[in-house]
This record gives sequence, C-alpha cells and structure tokens, in this order.
Amino acid sequence: MFDPNWVIKTYVEYGEIIFDILTVHREAYENTPQQVDFIVSLLRKYHPDAVEVLDVPCGDGRISLGFLERGYRVTGMDISPSYIRIASEKGQKHPGSRFLVGDMREMNLSRKFDVVINWFSSFGYFDEATNQRVLENFIDHLKEGGVLILDILNRDHYIQKMAAVIYEWRPEILVRTRKGNFSLRYSFDPYTSRLTVEVKGENLSEPLYYSMRLYSLHELIKMLKSRNMEVLEVYGDYSGSKYRLFSPRIIIVARKKYHRDDEEKAPPLRDEETPTVRVPKVLKSGCAST
Ligand SMILES: C[S@@+](CC[C@H](N)C(=O)[O-])C[C@H]1O[C@@H](n2cnc3c(N)ncnc32)[C@H](O)[C@@H]1O
Repeated sequence: MFDPNWVIKTYVEYGEIIFDILTVHREAYENTPQQVDFIVSLLRKYHPDAVEVLDVPCGDGRISLGFLERGYRVTGMDISPSYIRIASEKGQKHPGSRFLVGDMREMNLSRKFDVVINWFSSFGYFDEATNQRVLENFIDHLKEGGVLILDILNRDHYIQKMAAVIYEWRPEILVRTRKGNFSLRYSFDPYTSRLTVEVKGENLSEPLYYSMRLYSLHELIKMLKSRNMEVLEVYGDYSGSKYRLFSPRIIIVARKKYHRDDEEKAPPLRDEETPTVRVPKVLKSGCAST
C-alpha cells in the first residue's frame, strides 16, 4: 500500500486538486493569521535576533508570507511547482523572498538559516531512514544556535480519538471543492504507525494516497537529541497551550547546539590526564550513593 513516491503523484501531478481538498477540508488554512502570530511569538521568545527563515515545505507560501510581512527574509521550498508559483506571486513585492522548487529529501541550499520551519503535518512522509535524513537536512541548514520549529499531528491524540477504528478504513468523508466532489477514507496501521488517506473523486481516474508516519513526542525528541539538538519547549496546539499527552499537535521548538556547548560538557582529555572515576560514597548503613 505504501508507495514511497506518493508525494510526486499527489502533490506534483495532482497538486491543484489536493490543494483544494486541503484548503476546504482542513480548518487550519482558515486560521493562518493566528498560526503566523503564534510562530512569530515563538521566534521572538526563542530567537529574537533571527532574520533568515527557511520554510520547508512551504506549500503555497501562506506561512512564509506572514513572515515576510513582519520583515523576515524568507526562503520557501516545496516539491510542487504549482504551489511555488502561487507562493512566488504572493511574495514578489517583498525583496527578502525567495521561493524554490525542491525536494526536502535532497535539499542542499549551500547556506544556513537562523530558523527552519516545518509546519502543518509536513514531516513523516517517507520510510524511517528517509524521514531521519529529512530531519538531518533541516538541521544541516541551521546555523549554530538556530532554531527548528516542527509541527506535526500528535500520534497519541490520534490513537485516542481513533482507537475504535484501528486497522479499518474509516467511513468516507465527503468533500466538495471547486474542482469536484471527493471522498476521503482514513486508516491507521499500528505496526508501522502510518496514517493513510485514500482520495477518490469524480475527476480522478484512480485513487490518490496520502501517507504519513505518525510520531509520539518521545520518538521525535530522541531523533532530535541524537542530532545535536536541544529541545527548548513543546506546545500542543496553535493557541500556544503547553503540550499534554493528548494534545492535537506536537509543536517542537529545538535549538541547534553550539559546538562549544558540547566542548564545555565533555572537554577533550589531554594525554597526560587520567580520567577521574567517581567513587561511590559508602554510607554508614552500608548503602552506596553517587
Ligand atoms: C500539508 S502541506 C503543508 C504546506 C505548508 N507547510 C503549510 O503549512 O501550508 C505539505 C506540503 O509538503 C510538500 N511536499 C511533499 N513532499 C515534499 C518533498 N519531498 N519535498 C518538498 N516538499 C514536499 C507538498 O507539496 C505540500 O505543499
């Protein structure tokens, strides 16, 4: 069922249809200004000096535009040429904008940013190793001290809501758009933690698929920490509530450590030095504590 190239078919070949479905079906598109305000508040709090932002994937530039209007310099990248065309039109009056067609799996922009944003369930589209590589690509494009903001659906929330229908295709959801009527069916595979959406429609000769690995918070934290990232805060929705177990979203703010952070914690041993071994203090009762 999981075709690793589903993103090409769904977002590139049928990008305009999927865009209409996303915008009609997902209330998230309606509260874009609230989301931008929230992200900007995060930037002011966690990286007040930030100027250069990379928004990847940027879709039609709805979030990028909000940053441009607030004076940030924004590079947006997306695999869909039609979305990038819309984003470029929106951004053209802002001198600090740059929108590029590109694949986040192979991203190499030869420069680094103060902030990388991956917003609105745009992570987890590939197999485990490729998802890890995508995350590394984001981190590689951050300056030291730069901040990554990642916003995904919270697996634990999803499981709690959908527990009754695990394995099964959920009943269809019907969506009417300017490009026709579509039916969406959701399923979740607990063995792979993948959510799959099948889209059928009168203007589609075959079904389209959307497939995403869902993550729990601890998994993401592990992936980030193993790549020199320090988690600063986790939020659970777009109004800025702190993360709780069943929050709908996982919105992680993580900072790329400076090299010297690690050096301070683990200074290299010089040849003549012998490592110090901490000897447990023996308590009178006979127990040992460190
Ligand atoms: C759910 S949309 C979110 C877009 C944007 N972050 C937003 O908040 O509106 C996911 C986006 O991922 C893009 N995408 C999918 N696979 C990609 C890839 N391999 N490289 C770059 N962009 C990709 C799609 O074209 C789509 O615009």
